[in-house]
Amino acid sequence: MTQEITHIHRQPKDRSNQEMSLRILQITDCHLQADPEWKLAGINTQTSFEWVMDLASQDPKRIDLILLTGDLVHDASVEGYRRLNQHIQSFGIRTCCLPGNHDKPAELYKHLTGGLIEATKVIDLGSWVVVMLDSTIPHSEGGHLRDQELELLQQSLHDYADRPVLIALHHHPIKINSAWMDNMALDNPGPFLSILDQNKNAKGVIWGHIHQNFETVYNGIQMLGTPSTCIQFVENQDSFGISTAPPGFRWLELRPDGSISTGIERVAALPPGLDLKTAGY
Ligand SMILES: [Fe+2]
Repeated sequence: MTQEITHIHRQPKDRSNQEMSLRILQITDCHLQADPEWKLAGINTQTSFEWVMDLASQDPKRIDLILLTGDLVHDASVEGYRRLNQHIQSFGIRTCCLPGNHDKPAELYKHLTGGLIEATKVIDLGSWVVVMLDSTIPHSEGGHLRDQELELLQQSLHDYADRPVLIALHHHPIKINSAWMDNMALDNPGPFLSILDQNKNAKGVIWGHIHQNFETVYNGIQMLGTPSTCIQFVENQDSFGISTAPPGFRWLELRPDGSISTGIERVAALPPGLDLKTAGY
């Protein structure tokens, strides 16, 4: 496979500083299924996932952690979670996961975790801390942060006030200029953003769900949405549409000074078969 690597915001860095940085890969919205031959909008999601992970394996730097940010198994099947677990074991990097709207959290925690995969909610990486939030609502495509998730965020930012914190969840907490997708965003962004406002150690937020790259800054906090490992959605469009953009993943370098360098890497193309006429997913 020919792979075209796209670098965004990769900046030259002081070498000593670079060596102390933490490198995280975000892998999201894999939409695997019990049947490894299953296709979403004409695309074999297992093949697409494997292509993206193959690209990730060529990452030129030491990877400290992988974050899986939801919609990992489209049918929430035991087979799908176990196959994903096996792939991560062979990849060989510590991995933490959280659920998306297509997952069933109980099934995910039971069948995906084990070995290198954890469901740790507060990840102490030494110089940085990562907080993993569950934004899912049973039987809903939209997102909501329950009180216990908001309290966990507030408490973690308070407990680790001397460290920069990265927050991960599935649903987007800010609008992305796409009405159909914004209708299933986080439905209570107010308390979430208010907690970020009150804690200056909140440095970045990453999410899945939107199947596209999205980057902005909110009150000095990097807000980052990430492409799926399978199909992508058309950006800045109010109705559903599938894009021909290739799948990929996000890398993040968390620097000791609390800053984040980040970018997207994509494979050269989707596996064959994309059906652009698909009306939904
Ligand atoms: Fe998804």
